[in-house]
Amino acid sequence: MSTNSEQRGGFTSYFGAVAAAVGSAVGLGNIWRFPYIAGEYGGGAFIMLYLIFVFGLGVPIMIGEFVIGRRSGRNAMGAFRVLSPKHKGWLGIGILAVITCVIIYSFYSVVAGWTIEYTWLSCTNGLAGKEASEISEAFTSFIQHPYLPILFQGLLVFLTGAVVIGGVQKGIEKFTKIVMPVLFFIMLLLCVRSLTLPGSKEGMSFLFKPEFGNLTATGVLAAMGQAIFSLSIGAGLLITYGSYVRKEDNMMSSCFFIASSDTAIALLAGIAIFPAVFTFGLSPASGPSLVFETLPNVFNNMPMGQFFAILFFVLLALAAITTTISLLEVIVLWVVEELHLKRTSATIITSLVIFALGALCSLSLGTLKDFTILDYTFFDACDKLTATYLMPIGALAVTIYLGWFYKKEGVLDEVSNHGTLKTWYIKLFYFVLRYIAPIVLTVILITGSLGIAG
Ligand code: PHE
Repeated sequence: MSTNSEQRGGFTSYFGAVAAAVGSAVGLGNIWRFPYIAGEYGGGAFIMLYLIFVFGLGVPIMIGEFVIGRRSGRNAMGAFRVLSPKHKGWLGIGILAVITCVIIYSFYSVVAGWTIEYTWLSCTNGLAGKEASEISEAFTSFIQHPYLPILFQGLLVFLTGAVVIGGVQKGIEKFTKIVMPVLFFIMLLLCVRSLTLPGSKEGMSFLFKPEFGNLTATGVLAAMGQAIFSLSIGAGLLITYGSYVRKEDNMMSSCFFIASSDTAIALLAGIAIFPAVFTFGLSPASGPSLVFETLPNVFNNMPMGQFFAILFFVLLALAAITTTISLLEVIVLWVVEELHLKRTSATIITSLVIFALGALCSLSLGTLKDFTILDYTFFDACDKLTATYLMPIGALAVTIYLGWFYKKEGVLDEVSNHGTLKTWYIKLFYFVLRYIAPIVLTVILITGSLGIAG
């Protein structure tokens, strides 16, 4: 295995590995999706539940995926071939993971493209002086435009590919190590601005005061889906990045750090957004357009609004690109190791496929609006299918594999770095992985689906 790991390279430092994984976790899921979903499900109660899912369920599964990745030293599918050579059925988890990443990257690249357009719009002050209705109109006509959003999506796919072609050390690690601290800093600045606005009290109590009465079965499913989506679990991502993690690193503390940073950014995004939304009397529950319609309105009304608008959209674009890099890496590593293509050709071909699928997602918001799958547009279908079903199913499969199939000693040997790390948490981790996680995931998947169907 050592020749293999020499050829494939890997993260050169603990910080590099953690920064890359945080870069994957922190994305549109935190800054675009989390605030609007929390808004739709009533704020505080949703957030409490979300925290329970992140730390009670998410972290053990993250560690589990890291175990699979580092122990095998392979891509999301090849990992199962190395660990369980005689049981080909488990390769299915890997295939599902790669397909999940293809679907996520397709719709994600569309929204990530919008963030580039909005960065540009804020730099040129393109939305200044517009009324709320004009801002909404501008957004709708932009996303429904037959080719403009596709151009931005293409640009994003190109930039992502340019980093991934450089490989893990020279591309991904180098880029994320610089970008992530910048991102944290911008986020803090935005929070300070928002908290000094007059609506900050109202915004904060919306975010943090739990009203459990509002929480439905669909809300519980949404909280779990959001936790899984935000931590990038169930999509082979942490198996892939885990395969680059150094043997001496403590994976448990890495996962705590990744999950805490991811949650901190999501909460900070809420703190940056809701006080401002309440200050200007706007609706916290405006759905996916919260960031693109409601916020520009906020910036228009705020002193130094253009400056903060630029900061915000740069932040969003950077967060998105460190995530698309990780999504592309899952697919590219699979193509390189399973289809035996060179990294460069694998990156180019994968990016072209994603560009085409993403264009379809983009068109489904305008020109192809009437083409629906079970009443969902292609774009919404991709979003719902992955966050609500494919990723939880992927996570469930990982827990069953590690908790019930793969030998317990093997799992414990890998988490504890061959017995050198001794902590009470290891036992709890294994218990959650074997019993709690599969039960909770199954129950919520079933009741949530019934709730949605009914
Ligand atoms: N965690 C990412 C976000 O919050 C989304 C993601 C999901 C990335 C799955 C990789 C794999 O934006």
